[in-house]
Amino acid sequence: MRTHHPVIIVHGGAGHPPEETLSKRLKGCEQAALIGWEILQKGKSALEAVEMAVIELEDNPLFNAGTGSTLNVHGQVEMDAAIMDGRTLKAGAVATVSRIRNPIHLARKVLEDGRHVLLGGEGAHRFARQSGVPEYPPESLIVEDARRRWEKQHGTVGCVALDQAGGIAVGTSTGGLFDKLPGRIGDSPLLGCGTYADDSGGVSCTGNGEAIIRVVMAKTTLDFMRAGSHPMDTAKKAVALLEEKTGGKGGLIIIDKNGKVGYARSTSEMPICVVSGPGKIFTDR
Ligand code: GLY
Repeated sequence: MRTHHPVIIVHGGAGHPPEETLSKRLKGCEQAALIGWEILQKGKSALEAVEMAVIELEDNPLFNAGTGSTLNVHGQVEMDAAIMDGRTLKAGAVATVSRIRNPIHLARKVLEDGRHVLLGGEGAHRFARQSGVPEYPPESLIVEDARRRWEKQHGTVGCVALDQAGGIAVGTSTGGLFDKLPGRIGDSPLLGCGTYADDSGGVSCTGNGEAIIRVVMAKTTLDFMRAGSHPMDTAKKAVALLEEKTGGKGGLIIIDKNGKVGYARSTSEMPICVVSGPGKIFTDR
């Protein structure tokens, strides 16, 4: 039964990207949001829409996730991702995977499998093989620009969606921080930190993972929202808290259970796209 008008929001990462890439990043966010929107319009689940929208962003080399992920101190790609269903609290996440083209898809497999919430490193790759998720040479995920573009900057992609049945889902995927140590895990695959959804809403964060983890940003944001503020005010409050408590910079996107959207950033840019109502597209930077 249709009870809600679907809404979807995606972000392409908080950071300070080169100005000349901004319009392409906004376009990339729009394409991803529309892919998710079409899935929602067909009456499919928010989980499905979020996975497909994030896959689109992971496949776009302009974003720091999947193909185009930033490099660690050894010049290698190590990616994190998580996906969560707000109604059931089912979640799946992967950390430090290097040979997976779409970490969000592997995270969804972890969710569907249901035995665990977060798999890392070689164990995650073994699970991928058992689940029929193909592995690729890690070099195939590196694009030349990633070697330069992300120096000392952050980026992540994320999506929150509300489906026609009122279900909320969230997904976040990232190559993490440039020059990070091998084995470093950021906020994105940690539930409550970079990614969280429950029956009140869903939140995907972006920015300095070490700072975001310390304030448990995604869950803290939903707790603020439950206390009564509009998602837009809530987003601003959460980003201010991040800066006040840790000095960290970042941003986040929210959808609440009524389909109200919020987003905020403390960096110079965070491309976002919202699709709502009868397919109304809104972008911001
Ligand atoms: N927020 C992405 C990361 O720090 O890994």
